[in-house]
Amino acid sequence: MCGIVGYIGKKEAYPVILEGLKRLEYRGYDSAGIVLYDGENLKLSKTKGKVLDLENKFAEEKSTNGSVGIGHTRWATHGIPNDVNSHPHYSNSGDLVIVHNGIIENYASIKQELLKRGYTFTSDTDTEVLINLIEDVKKNEKVKLGKAVQIALNQVVGAYAIAVFDKNKPNEIVVAKLGSPLAIGVGDGEFFIASDATPFLEYTKKAIYLEDEEMAIVRLKKGIKIRKIKDDSLVDPYIQELQLNLEQIVKGGYDHFMLKEIHEQPVAIKDTYRGRLLVKEGIIRMAGIDDNLERILNANRIIVIACGTSWHAGLVSEYIFEDLARIPVEVEYASEFRYRNPVITEKDVVIAISQSGETADTLAAIKLAKSKGAFVFGVCNVVGSSIARETHAGAYTHAGPEIGVASTKAFTTQITVLTLIALKLAKEKGTISKSEFQHHLQELELIPDKVEKALLQDEHIKKVAETYKDAKNCLYLGRGYNFPVALEGALKLKEISYIHAEGYPAAEMKHGPIALIDEQMPVFVIATKKGHYEKVVSNIEEIKSRSGKIIGIVTEGDVDVKNLADHVIEVPETIESLTPLLTTIPLQLLSYHIAVMLDKNVDQPRNLAKSVTVE
Ligand code: AGP
Repeated sequence: MCGIVGYIGKKEAYPVILEGLKRLEYRGYDSAGIVLYDGENLKLSKTKGKVLDLENKFAEEKSTNGSVGIGHTRWATHGIPNDVNSHPHYSNSGDLVIVHNGIIENYASIKQELLKRGYTFTSDTDTEVLINLIEDVKKNEKVKLGKAVQIALNQVVGAYAIAVFDKNKPNEIVVAKLGSPLAIGVGDGEFFIASDATPFLEYTKKAIYLEDEEMAIVRLKKGIKIRKIKDDSLVDPYIQELQLNLEQIVKGGYDHFMLKEIHEQPVAIKDTYRGRLLVKEGIIRMAGIDDNLERILNANRIIVIACGTSWHAGLVSEYIFEDLARIPVEVEYASEFRYRNPVITEKDVVIAISQSGETADTLAAIKLAKSKGAFVFGVCNVVGSSIARETHAGAYTHAGPEIGVASTKAFTTQITVLTLIALKLAKEKGTISKSEFQHHLQELELIPDKVEKALLQDEHIKKVAETYKDAKNCLYLGRGYNFPVALEGALKLKEISYIHAEGYPAAEMKHGPIALIDEQMPVFVIATKKGHYEKVVSNIEEIKSRSGKIIGIVTEGDVDVKNLADHVIEVPETIESLTPLLTTIPLQLLSYHIAVMLDKNVDQPRNLAKSVTVE
């Protein structure tokens, strides 16, 4: 996610903002910039790369005066990482400047209107459109900056945390929030603005956290005035006395990045379908697919290539694509695919899935597929990553940076993107009815709330983890859409607790693995109501009759499995194709709690790297 830092007060702004941006580096970013007001002019410097690169740039230019300024670290969502797309962004007049964390979904239509009015743009970003919309409103409505921001924000759709400055009104900074975090640090005769409190914690522990659809005018002499963006009503500022320390804030108050990222999944899924899943209109909008629809619809087959958790997401997509869009799919480990001399033709469509966008095996497999004439579509979480640049087209997961080595929100957002693609193709091919399509859209829109509900089982899951933390081996079973979730659950346990675990299709037990069953063997069985439920129940009975320990992941209200299993963990009901987005949640939390109880290094497990950029 992007990071914002602003300062207005009696100190030199530059060192406060620069150090503040360094405090926000944990959020992940690809470029940085700062604008300062020196009492007469705006001085803006920005660059692709790290905050250190920005510091070096300022050092060359030797101008860091000013006691007011705003800075930004960019996590690209629109426009590749480069100097021009970095923030801050000027308005056309050069009087206004903005930094922004979020996504303006309707920026394209606003940009078209502004172009007609003679505005010009230097970057590909939605943020530059927003600052010129604010300028246009300010000019035409003849209002001050705060009012112009408010009117403009009532015209945009999307998520934002913004800080806006007008060089003709240098004693104030205007901020606003919807969907992305924004905090105001209240100092003694000075104010700080930031995405979280880490940049100003050393200066003040007094903070105001804006709520969604609130904006504030931060004035040096007059203080802070908070208003509702929608109706301009005043909001009483609530100043908190922060108790968290720096490390706790970086992790959002969670003990580990992995736990933070597990709990970020409702927002991450919503950010991933934002602007793409249009339920009211009954459409799915995905430029990367729309622009290549014929090629994809006429493909002989889809070949999915990926590694690890991304490969498990690909396996889920095999069920979705074949079940809904009736398109043949093969899912390949990239490391195998690249060396087995596969048959690839220009009639093949390859989908490459990668959180980091830097996995060497996946990148190599893409290049091989391209060399044979296949069309390659990427699903990545890092804008401008090697894989994103190597593929012919793609769709980003908007999960935000995933710091924990064990992939969690990447998995669910990858499935979200793949589900959107499969539904879009199924609609185009007519392999599902209009009503079925609409029902899937409605159910997908409800998933973030259902994930939130599944997360509420955390305390119960912790107790289950306590029971099985000393197991030496575990089995994970699932059928249909939940077979890949069983594999993913086993991987999660292996990679952070170092307990051996295997995932299997539930029906495979009788072909060998059932020989492993005894009272020392915990078996995690995904047994949701949708998807061969009765057959999974009989698999559970087979295990029970051999004294296996059974932990069922069940649909809330389940009775049959509850009567058979040693423990059950409930997830909300949804349609079969979306169950993986919910059943994976308890398995992520189980692995996390077991690893913590075993005192393992959850965020950086031994022998593992977050991105495997070597063979
Ligand atoms: C999953 O928890 C692991 N971190 C690992 O399997 C990972 O999914 C794999 O290395 C692929 O990484 P990528 O998605 O960045 O390509």
